Amino acid sequence: MVKPVAKLFRDPAKNIMAEIGKTAALMKNVIDLSIGDPDMDTPRPIVNATTQAMLEGNTHYTASDGDPRYLQTIVNFHNQHFGSNYGLDNVRATVGASHATDLAFGALLDPEDEVIIFEPYFAPYKVQVEQFHGKPVFVTCKAENNFQPQKEDIEATITAKTKVILVNSPNNPTGAVYDQQVLQDIVTLAEKYDLYLIADEVYWPYVFNERTFIPLENLAPKRTIVTGSLSKVFAMTGFRIGYMLAPKELITAAGLLNEGVTYTAPSMAQVAGTYGLQNVHELAVPLQDEFGKRLIYLSKELNKLSWAKTIPVAGSIYLFLDITGSGMDDIEFSDYLLEQAGILVIPGQAFGQGGRGFVRIAATQNMETLKKAVVGFNALSFADQQTVK
Ligand SMILES: Cc1ncc(COP(=O)(O)O)c(C=O)c1O
Repeated sequence: MVKPVAKLFRDPAKNIMAEIGKTAALMKNVIDLSIGDPDMDTPRPIVNATTQAMLEGNTHYTASDGDPRYLQTIVNFHNQHFGSNYGLDNVRATVGASHATDLAFGALLDPEDEVIIFEPYFAPYKVQVEQFHGKPVFVTCKAENNFQPQKEDIEATITAKTKVILVNSPNNPTGAVYDQQVLQDIVTLAEKYDLYLIADEVYWPYVFNERTFIPLENLAPKRTIVTGSLSKVFAMTGFRIGYMLAPKELITAAGLLNEGVTYTAPSMAQVAGTYGLQNVHELAVPLQDEFGKRLIYLSKELNKLSWAKTIPVAGSIYLFLDITGSGMDDIEFSDYLLEQAGILVIPGQAFGQGGRGFVRIAATQNMETLKKAVVGFNALSFADQQTVK
């Protein structure tokens, strides 16, 4: 007998997506609206700049915190675009935002420290906290508040052990974009209880219907760690490139932790990120416009269904659809949608208990395919159907 794996992974929770994915894999012509990976090609100029850099020998380790050109570009971008005030001491290159979040938790958490996470939430956060023996504490955000966290709910969960509040706006999976007042409330609580803030900003360009992206770091620069990513901004998820912006001592701690994790980020992906951020307007706007069109179309069409409703489109690349009027729970509904209409979505409870009764629809297919999906939704009927409007 060999000793078992770490306790954290001995009894894994049922993987809802893997089960549905198995069924989908056996079917033909599935409309896959499950994956949060933009369907567009990475802009060709980014690919060309990366290829050229590799041909010129840019295939080695960079400095452990990152290629100075990439780091300077991130700092310039945040300072010019968002009005922040970062220097080169405040930045490191990471292997996507996932890695940045991981390093942030590792740099911040001692055993039993608590992290407040607003749910529904991006599922990996939980294990990211637990692997450092921290404790995730969930605050449910409700559809009636457009999935914006409420100050009283947050304050009620703060204890002497609370160390961090994690903020993801524009939000995956709900599509919420937090109001200025909500962000100000979070900052007020962070100051009152001396907490850190992690701002997961991977969807920053994706704000629609007159909403604006508000960088949390500008409201609380001394206590905020930004986890940034180029994955969604430029449809370049496979490059695995992101960054972390934070007060200097946290960047130093993250560097110590990362020495034995990835050491640095891939050199060629840093070239890609540099090119992208230096040409952000030209390269990101077409993607932004396309996702806006898709979400507004889906929202308009799916809100016509008597048994479904959504909050007004605000941001991200997802629609979080309330399907309680179908009379089914979100897992049953997702199975039924797959069997009857060949459409794959993610049941809301994959994002925590607060996601029950919803499904996440990723707008990661072209308009033609989304139109077919709308026909599929319209063809559904349910034994216990109710009107929800
Ligand atoms: C909210 C959120 N944070 C982080 C990530 C991870 O991004 P990256 O590809 O940069 O690791 C994702 C990916 O879907 C996400 O939705």
